[in-house]
Amino acid sequence: MCGIIGYVGNENAVPIIVEGLKKLEYRGYDSAGLAVYADGAFEVVKRKGRLSVLEKEIEQNPISSFIGIGHTRWATHGNPTDENAHPHLGHQSKIAVVHNGIIENYKQLSEKLTAKGIKFSSETDSEVIAQLAEYYYKGDIMETIIEVVNKLEGSYALGIMCLDEPDTLIAIKKDNPLIIGVSEHGQFIASDVPAVLKHTNKIYHLNDKEIAVLSEGAVQFYNIDKEPLQKPLETITWSSESAEKGRYPHFMLKEIMEQPKVLSDTINSVLNRGNNKTIIDNLDFSQFNKLVITACGSAYHAGVVAKNVFEQLCRITVEVELASEFRYKDAVIDDKTFVVLVSQSGETADTIAAMREAKSKGAVTLSIVNVVGSTIAKEADFCIYTAAGPEIAVASTKAFSTQLVLLYVLAIRFAVQLGKLSQGAEQQLISEIKTIPGKATDLLKQVDFIQKYAATCVGYKNVFFIGRNIDYAIALEGSLKLKEISYMHSEAYAGGELKHGTIALIEENTLVVAISTCKRLYSKIMSNVRQVISRGAKVLLIGDCSASEPSDKLSYISLPEINELFSPSLSVVVLQLFGYYVAANKGLDIDKPRNLAKCVTVE
Ligand code: F6R
Repeated sequence: MCGIIGYVGNENAVPIIVEGLKKLEYRGYDSAGLAVYADGAFEVVKRKGRLSVLEKEIEQNPISSFIGIGHTRWATHGNPTDENAHPHLGHQSKIAVVHNGIIENYKQLSEKLTAKGIKFSSETDSEVIAQLAEYYYKGDIMETIIEVVNKLEGSYALGIMCLDEPDTLIAIKKDNPLIIGVSEHGQFIASDVPAVLKHTNKIYHLNDKEIAVLSEGAVQFYNIDKEPLQKPLETITWSSESAEKGRYPHFMLKEIMEQPKVLSDTINSVLNRGNNKTIIDNLDFSQFNKLVITACGSAYHAGVVAKNVFEQLCRITVEVELASEFRYKDAVIDDKTFVVLVSQSGETADTIAAMREAKSKGAVTLSIVNVVGSTIAKEADFCIYTAAGPEIAVASTKAFSTQLVLLYVLAIRFAVQLGKLSQGAEQQLISEIKTIPGKATDLLKQVDFIQKYAATCVGYKNVFFIGRNIDYAIALEGSLKLKEISYMHSEAYAGGELKHGTIALIEENTLVVAISTCKRLYSKIMSNVRQVISRGAKVLLIGDCSASEPSDKLSYISLPEINELFSPSLSVVVLQLFGYYVAANKGLDIDKPRNLAKCVTVE
């Protein structure tokens, strides 16, 4: 949560910081602020509300500087107010700090400072960092920062400026992401790559407790003992356009539409590499007796879909666990367990904790991650990257789809290794996977119908998503997509569960979205459809609609033919478009839904 950016260089830092914050707004958007050095003092502007409020303020009262730090907030401690917005200054206005993370012992630390007469001006945990820094500062800012972070418990990514060293920007992190960008005209710190892509694709990934000292022409790295470090400069392959909305009204729609391309890119990255072996080829599952998949939110749903695929192909039992539960449940795992972590950002706090828990018990970990160099990518024993490119909309779409295809390929590889799949069957399944991007393209052509249908759905009080087996797995994702961006109440149920309670909720003005791609379960799901229609619901049927006639109660969207195991990759496209257009018809802020942030780096 929260996005931070900093710049020092030979251009005006203010527009660079504001532009960078726009790219980070997905990480938090209840208040924003920046601090720049000007004429021997810090100028701080911070405002409650969206970034546009801050922008307006700066337009009316322009400021400029060659160095500054900025922040976009997702409140954890203290309401979204001007005072609680970052940056925070110490009591002498000598040190300015932006912080992403949570300081767990801030109360004890701030009580000690308050007892010494230091007055706090916000309710945040973050202000204590600036106050402590000023309290300990004796002329060496790096020394001071080391002293301060040694007293902090919790997580942090920090951008820091000190009046006595006005040409220097300092960054340090623990358990929250921070990258350093280097360009021709200056150096950057940022929570994520898209914030700097317009200026550079050359970046350093900062590791925990490494310190970066940035000046106009150079970046130097140190460890926590102040010893200099050499770090590899990485080149990011994402283009700057990939972080722009282009002609689309929302990033979410752009990202849905990009799916055929990113699916192809991801499939090619693991299947069409000639003689170059990928990590998937090198993994040997036969030494393990248990497979666990753990993740959060949509990534967890990718795991639920994958459970069906692994179990069908490998004939092994697979556990899928919410990372937030897994980390605290004392899971029964050991060195014979293979744990797969799925994460777009690679920085989700619960998934990181689940990974560390699994590793501490001896399990072998593989991460499926989108953001290169992120914590989960780096710390897992193995990592496979999805080639989704930057996903900016808070609601995951293309990252989810690319996670699915990698999980399918993994399941096929493991099934072969376990002797459960012949070479012929393997090739057949791989050929099917390769058809997914083309079939997704065909589906996206049905956008007009889905848009029109969604326009009729804004008034429903309750929406239920039902399916059986793998269709139930994808129903979970359909329901999450709708509720998180349209704020409509929705739930997903296994079709067979309706009669055990949920059917009591079905009445006039209820919508049921039924997913039906499993041929052997077609009559079962259709029986559920009839049950809900006869109780007043309207139904949108997605999948095999061959035996049903549309009516005023029943609408349907057919999917292209595909092996059932991979059908979630197609049904999800319809579910994403449906959720998107319902929210669009309600005129909501789709890319930045209320209370949510893209990257959940706190518990
Ligand atoms: C929903 C959504 C979230 C994320 C979840 C995990 O659309 O995007 O549920 O899937 O917060 O995030 P990552 O994948 O970054 O670990």
